[in-house]
Amino acid sequence: MISGSPNVEGSTNKVLKLLEKELEQIGFETEIEILDRCKIGFCKGCKKCEVDLKCNQRDDMDRIIENIKTTDLLVLASPSYWGDITAQMKVFIDRCTPFCYNETVPDGKIGISVSIRAGIRESENIHLLECFEHYFGHLKIKPVGRFSLTQVNKPIDLENKKEEFKKLKDLAIVVKNELEIIR
Ligand SMILES: Cc1cc2nc3c(=O)[nH]c(=O)nc-3n(C[C@H](O)[C@H](O)[C@H](O)COP(=O)(O)O)c2cc1C
Repeated sequence: MISGSPNVEGSTNKVLKLLEKELEQIGFETEIEILDRCKIGFCKGCKKCEVDLKCNQRDDMDRIIENIKTTDLLVLASPSYWGDITAQMKVFIDRCTPFCYNETVPDGKIGISVSIRAGIRESENIHLLECFEHYFGHLKIKPVGRFSLTQVNKPIDLENKKEEFKKLKDLAIVVKNELEIIR
C-alpha cells in the first residue's frame, strides 16, 4: 500500500491500517509505504529511461519498484490537495515512468484506489481515483475496487464513517476472490 499522505497518524493512513487489518484477517501479508518518509527525487524529465530502461537516480524508488514487481495487490491512497493527488504521490507516479519502457510488471496484479477529502462533493475524489486507475492501466494492473471518503478534514471525522468502513471488509473479499481467479 502506497500512501501519499504526509500525516503518519492522519486519516489516509488510518484507513490503510483498517484495510490492512481486513486483508491480514484473510491471510495476506501487507506493508504500508509512506512516501513522505521516503527519499524520492523528482522526475527530471530527462527521458534517459527511454534508452537506459531505468531511472538514473538511486533512491528509495529502487526498493519500491522491486516491491511493486512482487506484490499481488497494489493499493494507492491519497488525500485531496487542491482537488488532486498530493505532491508526494505525483512524484511517485512520475518516477514509475520506466515501467512504461522496461521495468516490466508481471501479469496478474490487482489494484485498489483510495481517496479522502474534507469537502462534500464526491466528484473531486473520483478525479483522484481515476488518476490511480490511469496509472494501473499503464502497469497492466487490474483495478478491482475503490474506497472514497468525503467530509473528512481531521482524523476525528472518521468516527462518523463507521458505516463506510464496513466496505473495507467487502474490498478484502473482492481481493481474495480476484486473486483466486487469476492464480
Ligand atoms: C495543502 C492542502 C490542500 C487541501 N486541498 C483540499 C481540497 O482541494 N479539497 C478537499 O476536499 N480537501 C482538501 N484538503 C483537506 C484534506 O484532503 C483532508 O484534510 C484530508 O482528510 C487529509 O488527510 P490526511 O489526514 O491523511 O492528511 C487539503 C489539505 C491540505 C493540507
